[in-house]
Amino acid sequence: VGKLADTNLIKDIIVSMLYDTKDLIGKKVLVTAGPTVSDIDPVRFISNNSTGKMGFAIAEEARDRGAEVTLISGPVKLDVPYGIDFSAVRTNEEMLNAVLSKFDDMDIVIKAAAVADYKIKDYSNQKIKKSSAEVSFNFIKDNDILKKLGEIKKHQILVGFAAESNNLIENAQIKLKNKNLDYIVANDITSKDTGFASNDNRVIILSKDGCSTELDKMSKRQVARRLFNLINEKR
Ligand code: CTP
Repeated sequence: VGKLADTNLIKDIIVSMLYDTKDLIGKKVLVTAGPTVSDIDPVRFISNNSTGKMGFAIAEEARDRGAEVTLISGPVKLDVPYGIDFSAVRTNEEMLNAVLSKFDDMDIVIKAAAVADYKIKDYSNQKIKKSSAEVSFNFIKDNDILKKLGEIKKHQILVGFAAESNNLIENAQIKLKNKNLDYIVANDITSKDTGFASNDNRVIILSKDGCSTELDKMSKRQVARRLFNLINEKR
């Protein structure tokens, strides 16, 4: 109040109002983004290289197309997009609980988050001292959030990502089937000019009915646009 809004915010709102595709009006879209973290002691954790850019781009595309968007993200260095119901989480379990609390109401759920598959077995309440020359930790399997969603899904369109360093299509197809997904977005994380920190991505989108759409290298926002185009063609 009494202060001009940030220029970028004004630009985003104008772009959103004038957006050429408004085919998600009345739809509820849930997106997850970023990494999750497993704490080892009060100062240390393990995590991964996800920056959240892909998930945020999907959430913004859905918002601009008219959807009511919920974005649940692990720790990232991105600004919270305007006009989106945003929840910040840290661990696999926090993300699971946040997603489950919203899932029933959703029409489309897109899991772009790089969820940690393992968590530390014994968290140390005290900082671990550097007393020995070597140190090792045990990790145990954590929740596969997307698999759980695939087991309980009813009307929802469920979309996963597959981050692969080899056998891209085969591995993505296995995830599509095992997690009971409608679509999977497969990307090769070894590619130098796309992937984690990049603004661009090069993906292949596979659908449960056997279709495959290979996209050229393009911005993550463009990937998001093409993904919703595919989903909407089928609805
Ligand atoms: N995913 C999830 N919970 C996990 C791991 C992954 O919900 N514990 C979701 C991701 O958000 C993504 C999809 O499952 O949409 C595939 O994630 P990916 O890391 O490619 O595969 P994993 O299932 O973890 O299998 P692997 O690490 O063996 O390749």
